[in-house]
Amino acid sequence: MAMLRAQLRTGGSMPLLGLGTWAALEGECCKAVKTALDLGYRHIDTAEIYLNEREIGQALTEKMGEGVKREDLFIVTKLFETRHHPDDVLPACQNSLQKLGLDYLDLYLMHWPYASKRGDNLHPVDENGQRAYGDTHYLDTWKAMEKLVDAGLVKAIGLSNFNISQMEEILTNGRIKPAVNQVESHPYLTCNRLLKYCTEKGIVMTAYCPLGAPGVHGSDYTSALNDPIIKTIGDKYGKSAAQVCLRWQVQRGVVVIPKSSNPSRLKENSQIFDFELSEEDMAAVNDLNRDARILKKEEYQRHPHWPFGEPF
Ligand SMILES: NC(=O)c1ccc[n+]([C@@H]2O[C@H](COP(=O)([O-])OP(=O)(O)OC[C@H]3O[C@@H](n4cnc5c(N)ncnc54)[C@H](OP(=O)(O)O)[C@@H]3O)[C@@H](O)[C@H]2O)c1
Repeated sequence: MAMLRAQLRTGGSMPLLGLGTWAALEGECCKAVKTALDLGYRHIDTAEIYLNEREIGQALTEKMGEGVKREDLFIVTKLFETRHHPDDVLPACQNSLQKLGLDYLDLYLMHWPYASKRGDNLHPVDENGQRAYGDTHYLDTWKAMEKLVDAGLVKAIGLSNFNISQMEEILTNGRIKPAVNQVESHPYLTCNRLLKYCTEKGIVMTAYCPLGAPGVHGSDYTSALNDPIIKTIGDKYGKSAAQVCLRWQVQRGVVVIPKSSNPSRLKENSQIFDFELSEEDMAAVNDLNRDARILKKEEYQRHPHWPFGEPF
């Protein structure tokens, strides 16, 4: 089975398939992580804002007690936008590590390029009830994240939701280059421009919402799972639409982190390394692009670091 891992510029590597855990309901997440680990998943994606790091930590501790090795796991969490102030970065990372029950992270991402108002309120609003912005520049946050690598708390650092200009700024001014940029991508939002840039610069792209988040974010319209072309391709290989969406990404070198709490869908989503899409089918999926973004974060549109003013 080729292409099971993506090479990172750190010299390490990460599994091309991971488990997404956003919106995994309380009580459900721990079970989903344990089922995923039993099925062979080793890469788990979370974030402070998902409010499930503690539950994931429970699942990891339990499974490590049953023989899963820490060095085989690849655990990713994210620095939230209210923690961008350089003085807040180390405590935020330590807090995530404590909740996850780990002494290091495999990858720590800056969740968004924009900062929100500093503090423990994860949804700060101003006097007009609008989202309260922060003024820390992401370069200053990045420099504080670099120190986490120096301290051995994280093996790699990366970005999420950064556009090309923002990545370029980090590459030019940072001491440590980002290992990963995690962005929304699915057949209706292929991000070919960003992928080309990442590949040239040695940055791995991870696709979130790789199934188009059916049923979440009120987003059925962007899910390619009902697309007739995807279904026809799936029929040809005896695979589901979800498997085609995921296979297309990993075959072009993109890491995928589909979320499921359902054991049969967790299994289905993992069975993507036993077939290969033809060049023609890869191109047919690619042609479905319509730049349809689910997470637009319009409440940050006035923020100078809102990333979506530039095409991905
Ligand atoms: N960096 C960021 O800003 C950011 C933003 C959003 C998401 N993420 C990460 O990316 C992960 C994935 O994104 P997402 O959860 O928004 O969307 P997604 O993975 O594209 O879709 C998840 C939805 O699809 C359903 N599903 C899973 N497998 C399926 C299958 N084989 N067939 C049909 N339906 C299926 C799931 O329901 P069931 O659970 O019932 O199976 C769930 O409702 C998140 O969980 C999170 O870890 C990161």
